[in-house]
Amino acid sequence: MDPAAALASALTARGGPRLSAVEWHEEIGSTSDRVKDLARAGAPTWTAVLADRQSGGRGRAGRTWASPPGGLYLSVLLRPEAARVSLLPLAAGVAVAEAVQELGVRSELKWPNDVLVGGRKLAGILAEASSGGAGVEWVVLGIGVNVATAPERLPEAVRGTAASLAGSGARETSATEVAAATLARLAEWYEVLRESPARVVAAWRSHAVPWWGEPVVVRTGGGERRGRLAAIDEEGALVLETEAGESVRLVSGEVSRLRAAAAP
Ligand code: BTN
Repeated sequence: MDPAAALASALTARGGPRLSAVEWHEEIGSTSDRVKDLARAGAPTWTAVLADRQSGGRGRAGRTWASPPGGLYLSVLLRPEAARVSLLPLAAGVAVAEAVQELGVRSELKWPNDVLVGGRKLAGILAEASSGGAGVEWVVLGIGVNVATAPERLPEAVRGTAASLAGSGARETSATEVAAATLARLAEWYEVLRESPARVVAAWRSHAVPWWGEPVVVRTGGGERRGRLAAIDEEGALVLETEAGESVRLVSGEVSRLRAAAAP
């Protein structure tokens, strides 16, 4: 059975979601680019594309996403209400964290949606929206999970900071099984997002790295902001409290913990 058919039948066995269409590619530039093309051509919500490897995998902030064999590369087309779009990446992070938990791995979420194991990156999520006159038309959610990626197949720059399911004590699994678990959880959280967005934020917090109140730096395209990590608000933005007592709300960026200066 090819992986597209295996994914569809795994989802049927789990009770959903029923994918409108699913494509599998042995190799593709980027599964998200393919779903965008399908979206522009009017593809239905819950159209999914997966690949064994990507030659042009993309990450957040214009970075590349190394995509050798052994990983899950999955993109899905969704059409959330405009007011919920900013929470979709958080909902996806919760879905991935729960999916990997099913496989025996406890992960932590780092805002906005890095999935970490022991401080190393296991999975990344890229949400890309297309807006028209009527607001957000669609969102392509791209999910990359290091399932059994051999470290030597990753670029040296990320080798030391990447985790894989196979190397984190997960039970034996496959990219298709991880995709099915992730999509099943995502469908549940997509429904919650519609009815009760505050529950998504609460669930995200329950999986988050416990850095509340600690000094952090958030690097954004426009520079960096420092402060104590105060909250994730109801729209999924990160709230910092600066030394001057000011509250700063950030909608994107890369958060790192600032270590306390060593005593002289
Ligand atoms: C990140 O920078 O953390 C996000 C990485 C997202 C990677 C996935 S792999 C499937 C999909 N296709 C892409 O080109 N990117 C996303």
